[in-house]
Amino acid sequence: MADDSSRAGTSYMSREVLDWTNRTHAPHDAGLSAAFDTPKVTGIPAIMVGASEGKLLSMLLSMAGAKKVVEVGTLAGYSAIRLAEGVGDDGHVWSIEYEPKHAELARANLIKAGVDSIVTVEVGAGLDVLPRLEKHGPFDAVFIDADKANYDHYGRWAAKNLRRGGLLLGDNAFFFGKLLEDSPAAAAMRRFHEEAREAFDTVCIPTPDGLLLGVRR
Ligand code: SAH
Ligand code: DHB
Ligand code: MG
Repeated sequence: MADDSSRAGTSYMSREVLDWTNRTHAPHDAGLSAAFDTPKVTGIPAIMVGASEGKLLSMLLSMAGAKKVVEVGTLAGYSAIRLAEGVGDDGHVWSIEYEPKHAELARANLIKAGVDSIVTVEVGAGLDVLPRLEKHGPFDAVFIDADKANYDHYGRWAAKNLRRGGLLLGDNAFFFGKLLEDSPAAAAMRRFHEEAREAFDTVCIPTPDGLLLGVRR
């Protein structure tokens, strides 16, 4: 029975269904297109969020009235463009990227998308850069999408630096399906979930790889 399957985690997603719903609800303008295609064109990893997750980020930020947002993991700026859309012209996004090459490609894409005045790309490791951003806080949302073994640290930083009602967002919350494995990174991802539950109202949205959503109490 259909309902039993979906409650058990079975997905009715297919490439075709996903393409159709992405096209219908989350189409790309020229800026989003350039950022989405940058990995294919340049050979950097194609590990950006999906089109629907990107649109969801934008909508969640606007619903929460978010104006100051931190992202960990910029890649080519695809999600950052969606975050910029969510905060609007009077908002700001600080996006942290470890790889200088990725940061450079992202900055070019942010210019193309017309959101370079909204997004600042900070080059460095998340754990080094986050303390430097604290002076701009408290923040309205934190989107975590970088090295999975540090999600627990990023989540703790978010709990300290988000306002009440602020959003915690964590991509890859199913850890590529390895969430329950016996490895240090999987354990860190489980701690991220469990500790988030202490400071936030939480839900793990069953996107293809899970999106943890928390609202700061
Ligand atoms: N959020 C992006 C995708 C990010 S992919 C999007 O959806 O468009 C993950 C990125 O995190 C990669 O670019 C990788 O270089 C970067 N990264 C890896 N380790 C990092 C760290 N310790 N600090 C900051 N960025 C890191
Ligand atoms: C990888 C990272 C991501 O953030 C993602 O969404 C998919 C894949 C990766 O490192 O392989
Ligand atoms: Mg991701």
